[in-house]
Amino acid sequence: MRKINIFDTTLRDGEQSAGVNLNLHEKLEIARQLERLGVDIIEAGFPAASKGDFQAVKQIAETIKGCSVTGLSRSVQSDIDAAWEALKGGAEPRLHLFIATSPIHMAHKLRMTPEQVVEAAVSAVKYAKRYFPIVQWSAEDACRSELPFLAEIVAKVIEAGASVINIPDTVGYITPKEYGEIFTFLRNNVQNIEKVSLSAHCHDDLGMAVANSLAAIEHGATQIEGTINGIGERAGNAALEEIAVALYIRKDYYNATTRLNLQEIKRTSNLVSKLTGMVIPANKAVVGKNAFAHESGIHQDGVLKEKTTYEIISPELVGVQSNSMVLGKHSGRHALRNRVEELGYTLAEEEINKLFVRFKELADKKKDITDDDLVALIFEEKFDHFKDFYQLSSIQVQYGTKQIPTAVVVLTDGAGNEIQEAATGSGSVEALYNTLERCFQTDVTLLDYRIESVSGGRDALAQVFVKVRVHEIETSGRGTAQDVLEASAKAYINAVNRVFMIEKMREENQKVTIK
Ligand code: KIV
Ligand code: ZN
Repeated sequence: MRKINIFDTTLRDGEQSAGVNLNLHEKLEIARQLERLGVDIIEAGFPAASKGDFQAVKQIAETIKGCSVTGLSRSVQSDIDAAWEALKGGAEPRLHLFIATSPIHMAHKLRMTPEQVVEAAVSAVKYAKRYFPIVQWSAEDACRSELPFLAEIVAKVIEAGASVINIPDTVGYITPKEYGEIFTFLRNNVQNIEKVSLSAHCHDDLGMAVANSLAAIEHGATQIEGTINGIGERAGNAALEEIAVALYIRKDYYNATTRLNLQEIKRTSNLVSKLTGMVIPANKAVVGKNAFAHESGIHQDGVLKEKTTYEIISPELVGVQSNSMVLGKHSGRHALRNRVEELGYTLAEEEINKLFVRFKELADKKKDITDDDLVALIFEEKFDHFKDFYQLSSIQVQYGTKQIPTAVVVLTDGAGNEIQEAATGSGSVEALYNTLERCFQTDVTLLDYRIESVSGGRDALAQVFVKVRVHEIETSGRGTAQDVLEASAKAYINAVNRVFMIEKMREENQKVTIK
């Protein structure tokens, strides 16, 4: 069977999704999970974009040893230098260079002639080869490029030293048949093409990213780029979990395999969804809540008699757990630590101690603590890294059907000062958010608010996800508590803290816009 390399760009193209701003700890946790999943390459970010991106790529490269870590770079020396500084400590440093090759992009975005583009691409590859053992070169907007020009530039960058050639469908425009034909054209018309690995990178604007990626495999691609849950710019990128499972289930057809540990798919998908605040639609292939639910009587009857009547993918294949371990108030620190490790989380001693306190508090109020509860608590402990900003001390909300809802909130700011405010609203959440806005002394626009219960039952934990806009920055936040109002307050504070953190980082280094 042909081996297909999986290039994960959740932390780069995925993080370009509107409203997604991951902090360093969140990026590291995702990188560790991608390593466990068994991807071949992690694109950790764009080192020249900002100090924050640089630090994240550097730390991920220094931490992850089970796969190659790469970073994106424009075809300019300063970007390549920054990328080398960030990536040189990695196990197998590689650079991802790109430049646009379509007439539209060359004329309007780059304002360069095709000859200038070839010259810039070739000299960037040559310069990068001084440092990097592996250089991947991408033709941005390849699918709207003229094929003879694409073949010419690909031949020249191969001659200059590129060993992976990526053909992105940047705007999600191509169809599977056409995409396959581009790969065939290049394989038939570019000298030394057999010496390099061909890569597919598809966006989902027309809903064809996965189909296009699979078509590329059929026409010679040996590397597929995509993101977990298909997150990314606009409609997103190809969903890697769907491609990997399609190759596995239809190996009779594709005769190709990946190195992925498929049983880590569900956990990876949940982690990315929670940390980015991007919900997985219930009917999403492979990882959606309903992906394995059989609703109609006829289907249920069939599955009970013989699973394969209606089930082509077993939930266990992708790590969907049918039974969750339950802890309770008599469980000790040791049992907690064991379960945390079994769930795949690495917590420092201090984090375990804090988690144990939260666990005991919850166990006093809730009889059974499920894996989902535990993961929700771990997220609170491990990823609330905004301690330098606002922290919730207390809330009090008054609500009655014949009263005006009123909230009183006490916060502490990064310097330890206490801030107390009160406000009303047309509902409890609005009263709470109006009060918090007073505390922050800045306008906050709430763009989205979602609430879900972590597990079943009336005593379940509530998890709230919000999307806000503050000072033109859109970001998301999450909060968990047994009370829905407390969870709502925490999510709002988490989102606003994230904005303040981004602003602080921007003050240190203006973020460059890539596209
Ligand atoms: O979609 C695209 O063209 C990209 C490139 C930078 C590879 O993400
Ligand atoms: Zn892309």
